[in-house]
Amino acid sequence: ALTSELGKQIKLKEVEGTLLQPATVDNWSQIQSFEAKPDDLLICTYPKAGTTWIQEIVDMIEQNGDLEKCQRAIIQHRHPFIEWARPPQPSETGFHHVAQVGLKLLSSSNPPALTSQSAKITDLLPPSFWENNCKFLYVARNAKDCMVSYYHFQRMNHMLPDPGTWEEYFETFINGKVVWGSWFDHVKGWWKMKDRYHILFLFYEDIKRDPKHEIRKVMQFMGKNLDETVLDKIVQETSFEKMKENPMTNRSTVSKSIMDQSISSFMRKGTVGDWKNHFTVAQNERFDEIYRKKMEGTFINFCMEL
Ligand code: A3P
Repeated sequence: ALTSELGKQIKLKEVEGTLLQPATVDNWSQIQSFEAKPDDLLICTYPKAGTTWIQEIVDMIEQNGDLEKCQRAIIQHRHPFIEWARPPQPSETGFHHVAQVGLKLLSSSNPPALTSQSAKITDLLPPSFWENNCKFLYVARNAKDCMVSYYHFQRMNHMLPDPGTWEEYFETFINGKVVWGSWFDHVKGWWKMKDRYHILFLFYEDIKRDPKHEIRKVMQFMGKNLDETVLDKIVQETSFEKMKENPMTNRSTVSKSIMDQSISSFMRKGTVGDWKNHFTVAQNERFDEIYRKKMEGTFINFCMEL
């Protein structure tokens, strides 16, 4: 049985200096040999940047706003992660090698898009995505809110190491000692690639500020054309409030031994600027200094509050 103690025993492994979950590393060669097709759309995010949100948006666009069709399965199954390899889960019986559930799902279904959190992209993404010149949909979220969200996620997710205190986690995060590595490397890597490949680069904060505008961009990128009323419906159904109540997106089907939502909800706050409730003045100054150094030469403007 999996117990809440498990989280504390989790020993992460590394690929090319990036920390990953052990089951992902154990399946690494299989993941790397994944064969993308030219018309694949890959959703790429750093953890906690709004992965679930963009997954639901893409599926709703693909299904022309048909809510019932989007209820056909939980989001993790509708949009499998290519690197999603984990130890067996009590709620997912029927797989002999559940560690390969992501890959198995991919070969058995035809998802509208795939999802990846590969960090140093040129090194970690299966090469077939570049070779086939696939479409990439990248969502970036400001580093401070990502850190806060990831901290609470590690508190409740027993498949990840215990984050320790907020002060301890601050160091862990800025040093990139979290699963999928450094936020800075991830965002810089994709930002550099965006003019060389077919990448739509979106910001969490923009989707929050003007969802219809950003959802329309995604629709156009996907080569779809939907009516205004359908777009309005997608905006409504992918709001934080709706997705928090939706069992197909809120992870309520995941067992408590894996995600204990009594500690912190998977759909936690969904706001811009929650970092202000966590960062001390000193931490904020130190973070800004580190940010300047690490992001030198990369001109991305992140919105820190709405
Ligand atoms: P918070 O912890 O700040 O609330 P991911 O899906 O990549 O794990 O990201 C999770 C973060 O996105 C969480 O942030 C979650 O609340 C937020 N989120 C999920 N759905 C959202 C939505 N529809 N609107 C806004 N934020 C959303």
